Amino acid sequence: MKTAKILITRRILPAGLEILHQAGLEIDYHDSILPLGPAEIKKRLRHCQGLLSMVNDTIDRAIIDSAPDLKFIANHAVGLDNIDVNYAAKKNIKIGNTPRVLTQATAEIALLLIMTLLRNAHQLAQKVQSGKWQSWSPTLDLGRDVYGKKLGIIGMGQIGQRLAEICHHSFHMPISYYSPSGEKILAYAAKATSLEEILRTSDIVSLHCSYNQATHHLMNAKTLGLMQPSAILINTTRGGVIDQTALLDALNNKTLSAAGLDVTTPEPLAADSPLLGHQNLLIYPHIGSATIETRTKMSQMAATFLVNGLKS
Ligand code: GLV
Repeated sequence: MKTAKILITRRILPAGLEILHQAGLEIDYHDSILPLGPAEIKKRLRHCQGLLSMVNDTIDRAIIDSAPDLKFIANHAVGLDNIDVNYAAKKNIKIGNTPRVLTQATAEIALLLIMTLLRNAHQLAQKVQSGKWQSWSPTLDLGRDVYGKKLGIIGMGQIGQRLAEICHHSFHMPISYYSPSGEKILAYAAKATSLEEILRTSDIVSLHCSYNQATHHLMNAKTLGLMQPSAILINTTRGGVIDQTALLDALNNKTLSAAGLDVTTPEPLAADSPLLGHQNLLIYPHIGSATIETRTKMSQMAATFLVNGLKS
């Protein structure tokens, strides 16, 4: 039988690579931290049966059409919005992703953004770093308690639920949630409610819905306008869920107190983006799943999906 060939579009952690090598697959490995462009992916995928793709590879119709032998795509991510999954299904291509293993790490990043913003920790650390800290004083450097704040979660999948669990048990936060895809949960005394009510009543709104046509710019001038001026907005899902121009307006007009984004459109933002350097906007470089433990498991899960598929 002919050896199956796969393309790996980025450097991954060794555990996953090991699984692929042990399976005896022919591997075209783009051993780099930088993405391949679409033309390069098309060229290198032409004779492959498997693809190990990343969250920032767009696997659209044109790419899929360029690979007539493609049978399996393992996306090194939980989100699949970078892949035209409907077209892949039409072409009988099976798709795997990496759910569950990144739930805790991503919920931790949402929590980190919440805590950092409420305590102004990013600005205060910067003050110390730049040698501008003058003195300790009872009236200086005051943030807000995290404990007891009202948390509104939009998208109650695994990551939203984990954040709810942590915030309910450790911070006694009242939790309400709105689920665009209709998940219902009965734990953490969480109250299912409308998007509008969440936005009007929450101190913290955290976005965890998947990104698709229905959630594109879910947070726009109108919905941001419903939030309390003291509230903060957290996004660890996809940049496209927020209209970033409207977000910037809300922050500049002080109708929203701060936002913490682990994801933006595009990634990275252009060096002259007005989002960069804004006092009340904390932006991370898409690190929801970026721990050694989690990325190891993701590499293993993606690799195993390809091996099982291609060996069957
Ligand atoms: C990361 O953003 C993922 O979807 O895993």
